[in-house]
Amino acid sequence: MDDLEKQGRLAVSVNGVEVMLVLVEEKVHAINRYCPHAGQDLMEARLEGTSVVCSRHEGTFSLETGKFIDNGYVSPLLAKNIKDAMVHDISVEDGWIFIHN
Ligand code: FES
Repeated sequence: MDDLEKQGRLAVSVNGVEVMLVLVEEKVHAINRYCPHAGQDLMEARLEGTSVVCSRHEGTFSLETGKFIDNGYVSPLLAKNIKDAMVHDISVEDGWIFIHN
């Protein structure tokens, strides 16, 4: 938890799945690290509230649900081809972050 508090986001590997941890307003979110559209590293994405905006085509994903958010950043044609990202349930105990799924 200390590292996440210092850096704001962390990349971790859990059973072969690359996950990005993001701290937003004292809440930890876990989302697959690579964009479901074309694999861009979301460690380079910008944060907008509780969403991440992919640095490649600006697909926006909720950190709460993983849902793609069609906020007009991408063309309608491209938006049709962007799937939701996968998010993970986490818990924090004694300063450790546990990823459950
Ligand atoms: S690679 Fe992320 S939106 Fe296209």
